[in-house]
Amino acid sequence: MAQVRKSKLLDVLEGKVHDVPPMWLMRQAGRYLPEYLRTREEAGSFLDLCYNPELACEVTMQPIRRFDFDAAILFSDILVIPDALDRGVHFVKGEGPRMTPIDVAGIEALENLREGVVSHLSPVMETVTRIRSALADDKALLGFCGAPWTVATYMIAGRGTPDQGPARQFYYRDRDSFIRLLNLLADVSADYLIAQIDAGADAVQVFDSWASVLDAASFEECCIAPVRRLTDRVRAARPEAKIIGFPKGAGSLYAGYREAAGVDCLGLDWAVSWDQAKALQKDAPVQGNLDPMRLLIGGDALREGVDRIMQNLSEGPLIFNLGHGITPDVPIAHVEELMTLVRDR
Ligand code: CP3
Repeated sequence: MAQVRKSKLLDVLEGKVHDVPPMWLMRQAGRYLPEYLRTREEAGSFLDLCYNPELACEVTMQPIRRFDFDAAILFSDILVIPDALDRGVHFVKGEGPRMTPIDVAGIEALENLREGVVSHLSPVMETVTRIRSALADDKALLGFCGAPWTVATYMIAGRGTPDQGPARQFYYRDRDSFIRLLNLLADVSADYLIAQIDAGADAVQVFDSWASVLDAASFEECCIAPVRRLTDRVRAARPEAKIIGFPKGAGSLYAGYREAAGVDCLGLDWAVSWDQAKALQKDAPVQGNLDPMRLLIGGDALREGVDRIMQNLSEGPLIFNLGHGITPDVPIAHVEELMTLVRDR
């Protein structure tokens, strides 16, 4: 079991308020950092980097050393789960992830592979342990996985698509098989998060990056229900686990998500209204929600964005973050400026 440490981020997950909120950035380890590009080159492919505990620990620590963020996030990818399920995952430079699109027979065949998922991912757990010992005690280490819906959308299409049309079509055509896939992903992802917690993760985040493309009833069945299955399974094994849910783009469906999905904190994107964000924060801590394009542009756009978040959300429990991942073209000076804007108010 992970030992209990004091960090600002864990304080906030328990509902405490800090004048200066803890901060980290989604995709904080990545291509905007020259040191990341060098380490990735050394590792070979992106997946080789994900499975190399020494180098994955190194890239996780790079943004902490450079910017002194309050939390590190494990360097890995949500698609290591389909990789562990033998779906032929690979990353094409400049184009993104690819794998063999799964069909009904393929979903049935996954039953034989589920037992091997956590052991396939043992290098990731070794990375977690290494990061935890490299990290100062007052910094939190976040583990993560993809939500079943978002991971399933890549497994069905075999790649990213603009609107995850292939997965929505599959769901409407072969609902039973699709739900079977979501349930299997929920179970193996829960076991994976439990293993990350045992290896040293202080809290975990569930990324549902494609929560925005479903109607309300489908959202209930494809986003909420499988994440609930996942969080129930994690909490049955590790009752103290802290879980951040990030159903990006959920809009009006953010209301009720936290309780229904069984998470402790809600990750918000930048499209949420301030009234809605404040109402959500009355119920539980929130994380977010600066538009990554404000960070890219810098200057007044960045200052305004930070001011609005602080004016609206700094009196309640807040983890300062972007509303989605940092983009590869962000100047390092803008990240430094962001740190100053949040910390030296
Ligand atoms: O946040 C972090 O610093 C931790 C590492 C992390 C990565 N991916 C590294 C990565 C995390 C938490 C993820 C999550 C992830 N991966 C999500 C959910 C969050 C989101 O961004 O919506 C998704 C949908 C993926 C799947 C994925 N991985 C895609 C679509 C791509 C290609 C697009 C892109 O940004 O290049 C990746 C590749 C990827 N994952 C990179 C990194 C640093 C870039 C790989 C490279 O070095 O070329």
